[in-house]
Formats: sequence, structure tokens, C-alpha cells
Amino acid sequence: MSTPPGSTILDRNLGMELVRVTEAAAISAAPHMGRGDGKAGDRAAVEAMRAVLGTVRMQGRIVIGEGEKDEAPMLFNGEEVGSGDPPAMDLAVDPVEGTRLLALGLPNAIAVIAAAPAGSFWNPGASFYMDKIVAGAPAAEAIDIERSPAENLRRVAEALERPVERLTVFVLDKPRHLELVREIRRAGARVALHTDGDVMGALLAAYPGTGIDLLMGIGGTPEGVIAAAAVKALGGGMQGRRTPQSETERARLDESEGRGSWEGVVGISDLVRSEDAFFAATAITGSPFLQGVRYDRGLGVTTESLAIRAGSGSIRHIRGTHRLNAGHIFGRGGLDEVVGAIAD
Ligand code: FBP
Repeated sequence: MSTPPGSTILDRNLGMELVRVTEAAAISAAPHMGRGDGKAGDRAAVEAMRAVLGTVRMQGRIVIGEGEKDEAPMLFNGEEVGSGDPPAMDLAVDPVEGTRLLALGLPNAIAVIAAAPAGSFWNPGASFYMDKIVAGAPAAEAIDIERSPAENLRRVAEALERPVERLTVFVLDKPRHLELVREIRRAGARVALHTDGDVMGALLAAYPGTGIDLLMGIGGTPEGVIAAAAVKALGGGMQGRRTPQSETERARLDESEGRGSWEGVVGISDLVRSEDAFFAATAITGSPFLQGVRYDRGLGVTTESLAIRAGSGSIRHIRGTHRLNAGHIFGRGGLDEVVGAIAD
């Protein structure tokens, strides 16, 4: 069928295919929930994610991955994934975002992946930590990471036509945020503290009606890039700046990029330079958005995922049920091997 001149081609939504990837990672990680061993969950998720990525038609390259080649045998930065056919896509992955949450059986652990045309994700270089601020679409223009928390709250409250007292800010519960938390409270707003998981925090801030209006504070730089794909697709606002948390991290940045030249604010269009970015996430443990992985001998495994596309602005909540013998996803043993004896 030919496309009329000037019309947009409703082409392939890679996000839909990437949901299968995050589903596989979540299903593989979930049996490790609450067992105190996040690494084992991460390993299982990496393997599943990698296996399913291999089935996706794309020339994929991991740009935000599980670390350097020698430290992580799979999904390392620079690793090529996918069938090898065009389109050339860069991928930012976190097979288990919230490893500790998974290990401790706490909410908000997700398997997550973001994709954008090759070369369009911001390269954080040697940075591990960045300061972030995220707000939803109505307050996207109100945020400014160079202003004080109180000033940001005042501007966001104005954009949302609400008093500051009715704003809630997601902050990671870390000693480095003691002063930030005090400032937010002094300004009159509420703080929702979470030990981990600021990709979910960014999603909650950017998505309407979650009860979270803003995310503020320092978290992982890779998580910042992944979250940016979702925030962009949701029309939200996000800014970040690299904020090294140790002398070693600072020295590595100075050495690789020139003394101090890595300082500076990046906005949403620097973090993701393409309009056609995709974001997919599947809950491993439950969250306000999505139910965690559930097992049932009769029904199989149930997952809940989110697929968002920046190009079209489409947001899909996808509930999947997976038969326990679905070997086509998991190879040899199928899901049975993954889930083992833990189904009800
Ligand atoms: P991992 O699952 O990769 O461990 O990340 C969890 C997380 O809480 C992120 O959401 C956050 O960006 C980062 O860790 C914060 O790092 P730290 O715990 O070192 O302050």
C-alpha cells in the first residue's frame, strides 16, 4: 500500500518488540525476588534480555549497559545485539533497575530498555552519578536545575496551579540528600523517599496522576539516560548535570574530558537527540503503575509492561500472560526451567 504524499508513515513501533525483551528479563529475575541475592536476579535478567534482543530486527548497539566488557560478560557497552539488519539503533538497558529492591522484595524493581536511532543518546562518558530534576508535561518548562529547590517548587506549583504544599517530590533516600530533603520540606512540599529506583521515580514524575509531581536529586547517570527516553516520550521536562560522588570519579572525568569541561547542564533534547525514541519497561516487583510478575500454574506467568514512543506519543500498558512451556522465549527449558517450583 502506498503512502499519500505528506502523510506520516505509521511504521514499526520498536517499543512493542522491546516489551518482549523486558518481559523476558522480568520473568527471569522475578524468582529471585526477596532472596537477598540481587546479583543472581541481575544475571538471570541479563541472560534473558540478551537472548530475546537477538530476535529483534535491528542493528543494535548497547551504549548504556552493564559496564565495561571485562567486568560484565553480557550487555556491555559497545556490544552489538539484534539481527544485524537496519535500522541502526542505540540501546540503553537495565535488566534489573533496583537490584536491591528485587533482593529485598520491595516495590518498584523493573526491567527496562530504551532505544533511539544510532548516535542520539547523550554520552555520559566516565560519569556514574548525575543530579536530576524531572517534571511532567504541564511543568516541563518550569524546572531549572540551576535554581534552588524552593524556587523550582514555586515555579512548578505555579505551572500546575496548585500550592507548593500540595506537591510531592520523589527523592532517593541517601545521606547525600539530607539537605535537599530539608529544603523541600522547608519550602512546604512533601517528600516521597525511596531507597532505590529513580527510573521509576522519573516515570512517576512525568506521568500524570501518579501523586508524584517532581523528581529531584542525585542518582545513576545511566539511569538518567534511560529515564530521559521515557520522559521525552511523555512530553515531560528533565535536566541533569554530572555530579561525581568521589574524587576518583571526578579525576576520571577531568582526565577523559578536560578539567571541569564536563560540568554543565544537559536538557531533555541533549539527553535524547531524536524524536523517535522508544522506552519499554516490565515490572518485576509491583509499583503504582504496574503489577509485578505473578505465577499461576493454571494461567502461567503474568506480566505488566509499559511501551512508550516519543515519535507518536503513544503510551501502552501491556498485560501479558505467558505459558510455562513457552520455550520460544526462553530456549531449551522454556519458562518451566526459569520458574521451577515457585508457581502456586
Ligand atoms: P541498580 O539497580 O543498578 O543498582 O540501581 C538502583 C539505583 O537506585 C538507581 O535507580 C539509582 O539511579 C542508583 O541506584 C543510585 O545509586 P546509589 O545507590 O549508589 O546511590
